[in-house]
Amino acid sequence: MTETDFIAPPDLLGRENGSTTWKAPSNIALIKYWGKREGQFPANPSLSFTLEASATTTTLSYQKRVRPGDDFSFKVLLDHAPEPSFEPKIAAFFKRALPYLPFLKEYHFTIATGNTFPHSSGIASSASGMAALALCLTDLERLWTPGRDEAYYRHKASFLARLGSGSASRSIQGPLMQWGRHTPIAASSDLYAIPYPFPVHEVFNGYLDTILLVDKGQKQVSSTLGHGLMKGHVYAESRFRQAGINLDALKSIFASGDLEAFGQVVEEEALSLHAMMMTSRPSFILMKPNTLEIIRHIWEFRTATNVPLCFTLDAGANVHLLYPQGFKSEVESFIKKILVEFCENRQYICDQIGIGAKKM
Ligand code: DP6
Repeated sequence: MTETDFIAPPDLLGRENGSTTWKAPSNIALIKYWGKREGQFPANPSLSFTLEASATTTTLSYQKRVRPGDDFSFKVLLDHAPEPSFEPKIAAFFKRALPYLPFLKEYHFTIATGNTFPHSSGIASSASGMAALALCLTDLERLWTPGRDEAYYRHKASFLARLGSGSASRSIQGPLMQWGRHTPIAASSDLYAIPYPFPVHEVFNGYLDTILLVDKGQKQVSSTLGHGLMKGHVYAESRFRQAGINLDALKSIFASGDLEAFGQVVEEEALSLHAMMMTSRPSFILMKPNTLEIIRHIWEFRTATNVPLCFTLDAGANVHLLYPQGFKSEVESFIKKILVEFCENRQYICDQIGIGAKKM
């Protein structure tokens, strides 16, 4: 599909008013998207586990405007209270989405949103939040121009979510989502994410992700800014190549269920992401001393026990522990005995691989 396939008819207008609600999960990248081109296109392909418990639920209410203006008209509520700090990002998203949703200026929208994870947990809500909003907007098109197949609406939701936040494109479906054109994956696209098309061993069923909340504060450098610093980065080309190589390596790992090799690739991706940050101009460090302490303990624990536990990091200090269902009790007692000490207020979130967004 191309961008023009996603342009809705210019006269698409529906009911006077109504509402729709979607719940979209967060996701954790195994192969990291870091660096982008104009138009929200990724510099390299990425792959993520869709999560289950960490999610955003958004109700989009719409009302036809009597006199539509040149501007968008919307307000945002977070947990029922006005949240004007979200407005610039949503306005930028609406602007990018307008060619594909020509009705956006014809309505006043109320976007009432809430997360299952604590607001100040340091977990980015942009992936689940933008995915939920994109699904609500796609739903209006679905209601007003029925008859297209579900695959079109799923692609469009991912396409729109991408315009809001790149990683959000991977939060529409699950359990494993791939985004970014990569020749060995025939259906891959820079425009939207697709379910990972190759066989995945049953050891990955219900794979667990425990998110250790190391630092719940606001990030000093946003992802968007970090992506920008990959332009002209001395290691950029090799990093983009590495992502492709690692994505290819996962094919046989997913097929065989080789968890040692899985951990190697996933940890290398996490550390490469942070290495890119440390070698940007200007450079920055999002890990905290406790992030490193946790990594050291994971490596010690793995050597001592052979439990196939590995970690990944997003653009922050928190650590995601990834492990199979079969080792739940061993890892839980390791967390309680050792790792919890390094979490802010001893807090962590228990999550697992999930199947994607749903209409409420
Ligand atoms: C490190 O999707 O948050 O989590 O497209 O600018 O909104 P924008 O960036 P964003 O970047 C995510 C970066 C990452 C890696 C990943 O999720 O692949």
